[in-house]
Amino acid sequence: MSRLRLRELRLAAIFGVVQALMLAGAFWYVAVQAGAGRLTLGDLALYLNAVIQAESQLLFLPFTVGFFHKALLRLRPLFAFLDGATPAIALAPEGRGRAAPDAPRAGVELRGVGFRYPEGGGVVLDGVSATLPAGRVTAIVGINGAGKSTLVKLLTRMYDPDAGAILLDGVPLAEYDLASLRGRIAVVHQDFARFALTLGENIAVGAATPGRAGGRVTAAAHWAGADGVAAKLPHGYDTPLTRRFEGGVELSGGEWQKVALARGFARDAALVILDEPTAALDAEAEEALFARFRELVAGKTALLISHRFSTVRLADQILVLEGGRIVEAGSHAELVARGGCYAALYELQAGRYRQC
Ligand SMILES: Nc1ncnc2c1ncn2[C@@H]1O[C@H](COP(=O)(O)OP(=O)(O)OP(=O)(O)O)[C@@H](O)[C@H]1O
Ligand SMILES: [Mg+2]
Repeated sequence: MSRLRLRELRLAAIFGVVQALMLAGAFWYVAVQAGAGRLTLGDLALYLNAVIQAESQLLFLPFTVGFFHKALLRLRPLFAFLDGATPAIALAPEGRGRAAPDAPRAGVELRGVGFRYPEGGGVVLDGVSATLPAGRVTAIVGINGAGKSTLVKLLTRMYDPDAGAILLDGVPLAEYDLASLRGRIAVVHQDFARFALTLGENIAVGAATPGRAGGRVTAAAHWAGADGVAAKLPHGYDTPLTRRFEGGVELSGGEWQKVALARGFARDAALVILDEPTAALDAEAEEALFARFRELVAGKTALLISHRFSTVRLADQILVLEGGRIVEAGSHAELVARGGCYAALYELQAGRYRQC
């Protein structure tokens, strides 16, 4: 920083000296002309005024140059970053990745998946093996911090597993073209984004081509129950969802969740992942959503993560994640009959308590 400041100072000093010399020259010229009686009083006033004005204009030049210099310093690394930014995951060679299947035949297989965050912390997943069969709804339950959302990040290739592999139709995820794969996955994240955009735009960003989402937006809003939110807004889907803009509104937590759900449904995906989709919904909204859920995920592979057993029990298959592994798997009825961890958690929420 001091080196940069010194350089600016040197530049400013050079400009200052040049400016001073020019001024001195101009004043000297005026003085000589006036001394020789070649200038009238009016000429003198005109010359002096011109010199003073030129000086005040020139005064800003070093500052402007310094400002541009600083701006350039900041822009250069930004553009270098944008040019060179590639995700820290294994990628198929440019243009050689496989296209993700339109409708997976087998589904997703997790094979001994192990993971710890590169940012630090302990092992989160430790040999997770499970199958998400195509066309079925799989639910994952587990206590806070069990690694459920981490699994979503691996499925969507935010990170690569450290051990084991995740396969889609028998092919490792890394062999698929990243954009093609992500284009076939719709995710409703637990910590979804609340964009300072209109309601319609907030939903359309979930579509494969947001600019041409059109009718998908209203259809998705209907699925997620966000059409009710639109109906009570002053400008419907064109209402900005932030108070920062004129005519904007602030939604409640549950209303935002409906928007996030609609965003997930705006994409025609093969794999639908819902991470805590109903945490903020009231009982009626949850009921309405799951009444339509089967129809919505018909023919798709769905993964549902929830702490609400009313939601979980709808799944074809339930996986219990504990200590970084899948400890139980089966349908709701099977797991309750088994009397293990799932049954204990279920009964706990149903109002009774038994040691897990
Ligand atoms: N970016 C990160 N860097 C380091 N550790 C992380 C990161 N994100 C999550 N973790 C850790 O990974 C573990 C699993 O987190 P994860 O979010 O997957 O849990 P979860 O099962 O989704 O929990 P919840 O039910 O609360 O949503 C936690 O112990 C958490 O502290
Ligand atoms: Mg989570």
